[in-house]
Amino acid sequence: MVSYKELGLVNTREMFAKAIDGGYAIPAFNFNNMEQLQAIIMAAAETKSPVILQVSKGARAYANQTLLRYMAQGAVEYAKELGWKKPQICLHLDHGDSFETCKSCVDYGFSSVMIDGSSLPYDENVALTKKVVEYAHQFDVTVEAELGVLAGVEDEVSAEESHYTKPEEVIDFVSKTGCDSLAISIGTSHGAYKFKPEQCTVDPATGRLVPPPLAFNVLEEVEKKLPGFPIVLHGSSSVPQEEVDTNNAHGGKLQAAVGIPEEQLRKAAKSAVCKINIDSDSRLAMTAAIRRVFDEKPAEFDPRKYLGPARDNMKKLYIHKIVNVLGSDGKAE
Ligand code: G3H
Ligand code: 13P
Ligand code: ZN
Repeated sequence: MVSYKELGLVNTREMFAKAIDGGYAIPAFNFNNMEQLQAIIMAAAETKSPVILQVSKGARAYANQTLLRYMAQGAVEYAKELGWKKPQICLHLDHGDSFETCKSCVDYGFSSVMIDGSSLPYDENVALTKKVVEYAHQFDVTVEAELGVLAGVEDEVSAEESHYTKPEEVIDFVSKTGCDSLAISIGTSHGAYKFKPEQCTVDPATGRLVPPPLAFNVLEEVEKKLPGFPIVLHGSSSVPQEEVDTNNAHGGKLQAAVGIPEEQLRKAAKSAVCKINIDSDSRLAMTAAIRRVFDEKPAEFDPRKYLGPARDNMKKLYIHKIVNVLGSDGKAE
């Protein structure tokens, strides 16, 4: 058993309280490898932004949970070396799928866990979330839960509405489970293909796909039911078209990739939404930079020569998100 406090990490409680008061959101960036982690920490340290490092099931399978935890511990020291006196870094389990997984992360030094019971019947989601909360809170680890199902890209448009979080359930869910934050479904989804082309309109000036707006009415209803309670948005990549274009110009095949427009995320960040999850945009930025090097310098084979530019591009993306979308810069001196 190791406490995250010994590792210099923080849970989400204070971060979220300040974010709601201040009308901004904390970035939750997924990481799977060193370059991604370096880019996140450089961006957070440079902008003095609190940050949540997220570890998914896929990341644990790919990189090993223990190694990722030590990397996060190293990240705290690295942040200090970069001149960030009091780094506000949370290590968070993304989409925990069982009590055992959440327990193992709590026991290994994570400061926050998500238990994702959103695909379960309501009562089972309540029971599982409550069990995780009871365990995690003994160690002052915060717990994110989820209510409502994020639409899959294969879902029919008509089915999406019924997957939105039902505002009438949130008070009961939060009071029964004791969770610290709640991920809701208002039209975002995971990946780089969030909407089918037929759900979008076409911008005549650019020829780009314009997705339908998020269900801000659902968010507002949830906020009315749970004033001041931290709300989380998953699936919040914007799928920057310049990164899609760079990928495609250098051998990629990303057709009709479309994300959440930044102005909608800016609006969400000013509300009770205080954690915004971004993974796919970093994948696009990383791969775009690597593809460019492979295409333009085919004789290059030193990984640092393509992972370095990939890291630079991710750092630029993270800074952009922090400063221009979430507004979390300068909130963790
Ligand atoms: O929630 C989804 C995240 O983007 C993580 O995805 O399981 O492929 O690492 P992953
Ligand atoms: P994106 O796929 O939109 O980046 O969402 C990531 C996420 O929600 C991780 O939990
Ligand atoms: Zn997610």
